[in-house]
Amino acid sequence: MADLSRRNALRLAGLGAATAVAGGVGIWRTSTDGSAIDPEAGGLLAQPAVLTSTGGRLEVELVAGRGVTLAGRETQALGYNGSSPGPTLHVRPGDTLRVRLTNRLDEATNLHTHGLHVSPEGRSDNIFRVVGPGESGDYEFAIPADHPAGTFWYHPHHHGTVADQLFGGLFGALIVAGADDPDLPERLLVVSDISLDAGGRPAKPSLPEIMAGREGDLVLVNGQRLPRLDVVAGVTERWRFVNACVSRFVRLQLDGHRLGLLGLDGQALGPPMDVDAVTLAPGNRADLVVSLQRAGRHTLRTLAVDRGGMGMMMGSNDTSRETALAEVRAVEASRSGPPEPKAWPGPGLPDLRDRDVARRRRITFTMGMSMGMSMGMGPGGMTFGFDGVEFDPARVDQDPRLGTVEEWTIANTTPMDHPFHLHVWPMQLIAGPGSSATDRPDWRDVVIVPGGGEVRVLVSFEKFGGRTVYHCHILDHEDRGMMGIVQTQG
Ligand code: C2O
Ligand code: CU
Ligand code: CU
Repeated sequence: MADLSRRNALRLAGLGAATAVAGGVGIWRTSTDGSAIDPEAGGLLAQPAVLTSTGGRLEVELVAGRGVTLAGRETQALGYNGSSPGPTLHVRPGDTLRVRLTNRLDEATNLHTHGLHVSPEGRSDNIFRVVGPGESGDYEFAIPADHPAGTFWYHPHHHGTVADQLFGGLFGALIVAGADDPDLPERLLVVSDISLDAGGRPAKPSLPEIMAGREGDLVLVNGQRLPRLDVVAGVTERWRFVNACVSRFVRLQLDGHRLGLLGLDGQALGPPMDVDAVTLAPGNRADLVVSLQRAGRHTLRTLAVDRGGMGMMMGSNDTSRETALAEVRAVEASRSGPPEPKAWPGPGLPDLRDRDVARRRRITFTMGMSMGMSMGMGPGGMTFGFDGVEFDPARVDQDPRLGTVEEWTIANTTPMDHPFHLHVWPMQLIAGPGSSATDRPDWRDVVIVPGGGEVRVLVSFEKFGGRTVYHCHILDHEDRGMMGIVQTQG
């Protein structure tokens, strides 16, 4: 497997001595076309350090702290092991992932493995744990042997500071490699946004920004502003995208080129599906195959996404604006690349539409006025919740029976779009604006529920029981209470 991440992987002795490594330069030596470099461009796209499991285990230390390089300059933003994104954790189904999380922040944090189908209890994907400032916490994730292969990610999940800590730079990719992954060169592209103040610190959002969901004015790929990707014409590559933004919706497009959608949210779709653009809500991932047939320069951009409407009322704009993400330069091949794979991995999960539904539920995104203010503009702003109530860690909101399939209708009575995320158990989208018209199962772990609209999903509450959460992945909303508790029974 000649993938870039492997090639660029640092051989690390001991726990987590990760540093960012420049990479993604291409698998073959290529001659550049000699044209001048865009003065705005941030150089060749780097890949975060890759920490790969061996013998069924990966043990790493992640140190959350301040001080990382972003857009080519030293900042007081946050990172893991001194970089943002943090190291890429590369595991296989059946592996045990051990993480020692060390907190060098001045506030509490913790760790969530977004999208992984692992236990939400104990030292596993337990977002109720707290790792205080100066403390370390040990996590252990037992990844099932039949876990789907794909792109996942990790980030803090301490209620109340999730948006600040992700906006600050705390996130990294988590790749589950499969035995039948296509043999393609790979790149990881983690899209994030941040605003920095004059001192290079993450800027504090205003109240209207929190209400709408803050967007940073620097849009970064792997911590770089407008990096360059050199590819070889005619060679197919696999690009793994993570939308790590707090609130920004991303709609990926590569000039007029078709993109091949291989998987969403870590779930393989089968042979690549030809698309013009791919929309990623915060938290979503897309695996794409890209092949440019001729030499030339192309812009990878995110198109404008209208995410609905409090804009006028709250004095802020809820449209994620069009922005260039990277420059892609294709050069003529000096020799030919590997042939396109003949087989593509199909869905790793069975279609739930054939299963009996044990229970139907309706869960509704709601917003209200804070007490003691008028017109939603007072110091408290709006309240955010589900079914009219804010998050309460002491309350169980949904109690599915372990081992059953439920059908959830997620409704949204607010004027703005909210991305619905459920931990631990993936959702099969069966109805709603974003659902694909094909027969193949459409798996997600973050589903966009448009303002005034609804979607329907099937969830199999299997294998792991316990207590965890669902929430809006506009993380400012989550921190303000747009989160509920699901606890399995039996
Ligand atoms: Cu990306 Cu509850 O998380
Ligand atoms: Cu998650
Ligand atoms: Cu929301």
